[in-house]
Amino acid sequence: MSKIGFSPIKIKSFSKIKTYDDTLPSLKYVVLEPAGFPIRVSSENVKVSTDDPVLFNVYARDQWIGEIVKEGDYLFDNSILPDYAFKVISTYPKEGGMITSETVFKLQTPKKVLRTQFKKAKFSEIIGQEEAKKKCRIIMKYLENPKLFGEWAPKNVLFYGPPGTGKTLMARALATETNSSFILVKAPELIGEHVGDASKMIRELYQKASESAPCIVFIDELDAIGLSREYQSLRGDVSEVVNALLTELDGIKENEGVVTIAATNNPAVLDPAIRSRFEEEIEFKLPNDEERLKIMELYAKKMPIPVKANLKEFVEKTKGFSGRDIKEKFLKPALHKAILENRDYVSKEDLEWALKKILKDRREVPQHLYL
Ligand SMILES: Nc1ncnc2c1ncn2[C@@H]1O[C@H](COP(=O)(O)OP(=O)(O)OP(=O)(O)O)[C@@H](O)[C@H]1O
Ligand SMILES: [Mg+2]
Repeated sequence: MSKIGFSPIKIKSFSKIKTYDDTLPSLKYVVLEPAGFPIRVSSENVKVSTDDPVLFNVYARDQWIGEIVKEGDYLFDNSILPDYAFKVISTYPKEGGMITSETVFKLQTPKKVLRTQFKKAKFSEIIGQEEAKKKCRIIMKYLENPKLFGEWAPKNVLFYGPPGTGKTLMARALATETNSSFILVKAPELIGEHVGDASKMIRELYQKASESAPCIVFIDELDAIGLSREYQSLRGDVSEVVNALLTELDGIKENEGVVTIAATNNPAVLDPAIRSRFEEEIEFKLPNDEERLKIMELYAKKMPIPVKANLKEFVEKTKGFSGRDIKEKFLKPALHKAILENRDYVSKEDLEWALKKILKDRREVPQHLYL
C-alpha cells in the first residue's frame, strides 16, 4: 500500500493530463466494482476492497485522471494489482465524461449474484436418505403441477443434518427431475450493507423465482441468519433479513410454483419464529454400513481409472463418514495418488493411505468442526 502517492503512479497520471478535453463533461461521481483480471492468473480468487474510502479516492484519481469513461466501461489498475479491472457501475453525469482531480470514486462490493445455474442430479445418485426422499415426493408433485394445490401447496421445507449428507444434492435432484428452476442463495449473503438492502434483495429473489416458476429457492446456511435470539446479539444486522424472509415465507399468492428449501446443520440453534415457518423438517443422516458401501461403489465406478480393491474392507473403517467425506476426502486423494504414481488403477494401498491421512487430519482439527 505504501506505493500510493509516490512517484511511479504520478508520472503515469501526469502524462494522461494531456488528454484533457474541455468539451467533455467532468465526472463528479464514479461508482466502481472490482471485476477481476481479464485473464485467469491462477486458481485463486482475488478479492478487492478498501478499508479507507478517502485513500481509495486518492489512489483512483491519481491513476485514472484524464480517462474518459461511461457506465459499463472498465478501468485497469496500474499500480498495486496491474491490469486488475474495475467495472464502472454508474457515473454522474449519467452519460459519462472525464475523470478529473475532483471526481469522487466509490468502490462498492459486487452485488451478490443469485446462482441460477446448477449441476444436474438424479434421485438415483442419492444413496440412502429414504425418509427424506419419501417426504420430498410431495414437493415433486407440487412442482409438477402447482395449480392442483392452491393454498395447500408445500411452501417451506427445512433440510437438516450433518455436513455432506446430501441436502444440496437432494435439492438439485428435485429441480432436475421436475424440470424446475433452481436459485441458490447463501443466507449470509442476504445481509446487506445498508438498511433496506436485505429486504430489496429478498424481494428480488422471490420476484425472480415467481417469474421462473416452477422454481426451488434453496437457502443454504440458514443458521447464519436464523439464529435464535440468544445468539443473535452476536449479529445485530440480521433482523432485517429475518423479517423480510418471514414475509416471503408466509407465502404470498404470486409465489405459486415456488418452494423454499432451507438447509442447516443445526436446527436447534434456529430462531423459533423462523423454524416454525417450515411446515416440514426433513432429516438427513450419516450413511449406515450398507449405504457407505453403495456410496463407495457409486463413486468408484465414476472414477477415470478403476479401483482394484475390495471396498467391503473399508466399510467398517469409514464409520461416521458422510457421502462427501467418502467422495472428497477418501476416494479423491486415493485416485490422485494413483495418478501421480502413473498407475492405471487405484489400489488397496492408495485407499488405505487416504484413510490414514483423513484420520490423522481429523485428530489435528478440533472436534467441534465436525458437528
Ligand atoms: N447420500 C448421498 N449419496 C450420494 N452422494 C452423496 C450423498 N451425500 C453426499 N454425497 C456426495 O457428497 C457431495 C456433497 O453433498 P451435499 O453438498 O449435498 O451435502 P450437504 O448435506 O448439502 O452438506 P452441507 O451441510 O455441508 O451443505 C454430493 O455432491 C455428493 O457427491
Ligand atoms: Mg449443502
